Amino acid sequence: MTSGPWPRRQWLGVIEEYRDLLELPAGLEAVTLREGGTPLVHSEWLTGLTGGQVWLKVEANNPTGSFKDRGMTAAISVARHEGAQAVVCASTGNTSASMAAYAAKAGLKPLVLIPEGKIAAGKMAQAVVHGAQIIMVRGNFDHCLDLARGLARDYPVALVNSVNPVRLQGQKTASFEIVDFLGDAPDYHLLPVGNAGNIAAYWLGYQQYAELGRASRKPVMRGFQAEGAAPLVTGEPFPDPETKATAIRVGNPASWHLAEMAAKESEGRFAAVSDAQILAAQVELARRDGVFVEPASAAGVAGMLAELAAGQSYAGKTVVITVTGHGLKDTATALESFGDIVDNVVDADVEAAAAAAGLA
Ligand code: F0G
Repeated sequence: MTSGPWPRRQWLGVIEEYRDLLELPAGLEAVTLREGGTPLVHSEWLTGLTGGQVWLKVEANNPTGSFKDRGMTAAISVARHEGAQAVVCASTGNTSASMAAYAAKAGLKPLVLIPEGKIAAGKMAQAVVHGAQIIMVRGNFDHCLDLARGLARDYPVALVNSVNPVRLQGQKTASFEIVDFLGDAPDYHLLPVGNAGNIAAYWLGYQQYAELGRASRKPVMRGFQAEGAAPLVTGEPFPDPETKATAIRVGNPASWHLAEMAAKESEGRFAAVSDAQILAAQVELARRDGVFVEPASAAGVAGMLAELAAGQSYAGKTVVITVTGHGLKDTATALESFGDIVDNVVDADVEAAAAAAGLA
């Protein structure tokens, strides 16, 4: 075809889109599933509630359904570049789903360490179907991460958790995309925090864009944790973290120090939200904005709602809230509060359906 709008340029993935801004080995060949380029969706609901302008950075639109793909394209590309045959991660589910997909693409063997009994079914399915070997550990995420570090230290397997700084190089591209879209950094950036790599990466990206003059300011960073796993709020590790938002069930975040720096340097802070607040925000977001996220991903929205209820203001401000992963990853938790899923059962008959729907 020679006429018409085709071929359009396809988004190349975060390494090729931003290569000159990322600290990666020269000549690195990217292992990519065309991650990144995710939508910034305007929230009429939260804009109306705040009197500011609220945008959702919808990271579910990445290839494996979470923000982890941004860092994983970088980590797996470097692992392959350095000759690794196998890669390992500890995970509450999303990192392992992402690692398994990118390892498959790169021809590496993925080894996944997960905490006993706490991984959402969708994420498990991803790791299994992409061909990962799954080792369940009698312990929590923090124990899994210790194990992953030990394996990578003593055996020929590359660690791709966010303690690997290459991950943050990929993940910081989310900040670049936000500034590229909005024309400047937002006033505030809110997001869920678990192992704390993401908030550290966003802050790296915002700082870099400000230094390059691509943004005139940096946002105030506000991180939200689940009440039962809120070490950055209390200042103490949680030996037995517990929350329905299993993705952020982390008691001793690896990027603790970097996350504290991000909050401090941006004049931001950490706060905790309850599971009830998280699950309520998940449903409201789905019903008002049409965006279905997994429980952990709703922590930023829950945090904003809690702040508004406490009388804080975002009036006149531009706010970005990252929603980190897709609702389809954990349908069991999403449906827990809903009793009967089916409202009516009818025969295949228009009159009967109309009567059941209250139309007749
Ligand atoms: N939201 C989701 C959906 C996550 O999966 C995670 C982390 C976070 C937020 C928190 O991000 O750790 O960078 O502060 N999940 C990790 C995992 C722990 O193993 O998938 P963070």
